[in-house]
Amino acid sequence: MEQNIKFNELVNRVDKSLSILEDKPEESSESTVRTLWHLAAGNALSVQRALELDLPVLEAESLEKLEEYIKLREKGVPLAHITNRQQFMGIELIVGKDALVPRKETELLGYAALGLINEIAENKGAVKVIDVCTGSGNLALAFAWHQKRTIVSAADLDEKAISLAKQNNKHLKLESRVNFFTGDLLEPFATDEYFNSVDVLTCNPPYISSGKLESMPDEIISFEPSMAFDGGPFGIKILGRIIKEAPKYLNDGGWLAFEVGLGQGEPLLKRLEKNKNYKKFRTVKNETGEIRVILAST
Ligand SMILES: C[S@@+](CC[C@H](N)C(=O)[O-])C[C@H]1O[C@@H](n2cnc3c(N)ncnc32)[C@H](O)[C@@H]1O
Repeated sequence: MEQNIKFNELVNRVDKSLSILEDKPEESSESTVRTLWHLAAGNALSVQRALELDLPVLEAESLEKLEEYIKLREKGVPLAHITNRQQFMGIELIVGKDALVPRKETELLGYAALGLINEIAENKGAVKVIDVCTGSGNLALAFAWHQKRTIVSAADLDEKAISLAKQNNKHLKLESRVNFFTGDLLEPFATDEYFNSVDVLTCNPPYISSGKLESMPDEIISFEPSMAFDGGPFGIKILGRIIKEAPKYLNDGGWLAFEVGLGQGEPLLKRLEKNKNYKKFRTVKNETGEIRVILAST
């Protein structure tokens, strides 16, 4: 009973002190307190996982820890940086300051690409996937987790992100089918082993224009690596490169699948349609009707 009163008190407090960002729809005052409550009890969980479990009873020492965690969150530290956990496509990942915390919106790309991967697995057997700009490895690992016939090679320019991705790979026991490399975009794969042979190539690139970075919420820009967001002067520096370079790696009928920022979908689709290397196109829209994912096949 006392614990219930404490819990409700904290939810009311967090409700007043915190504003939750739109790109973290899983977070609310209640889910925040539940997640930090479990952490104080010694159980580091994602928000989604914390919502599935009953609240444990907290002893005095754990209640002190809970108070510290709530204060950190009130100071603007992202919830996932306090717990070091985030769920993506149903898997629990280790996250932190070394890579972007995977967002729910990227599951649109994840499930669209997984749909293609499953189709290919059905028709062909083994599926060869490359994921660039991999960050914590969320997409690469989710593909291998959900489709056992997938072999994934993934890379990021940021060494720290790759070291986190490798930690996740070990933790999820996927090391026999997922490999991580450090390097610029597709450069780690510029060998005969990958040319003209990839079934699906995915990318969630940085796509915010450099000039807009400063106006991003403090909770994002002060805590997450700017390399994860900075897409150059017009936001499409990496996207332009990936559209141009991907066909060299894709097999005949292979798919490029990538996430785009708001407003970037239509112009990028036009650019792809003009490129003779691509023949079929699909898009995925969010719930407000905006294109957030483009898929193009050779
Ligand atoms: C938006 S984050 C995506 C991270 C992760 N895939 C996800 O979905 O959450 C973009 C990632 O691209 C990486 N990146 C930026 N420029 C790059 C480049 N030239 N080559 C490879 N990776 C790059 C960043 O380090 C960052 O991890």
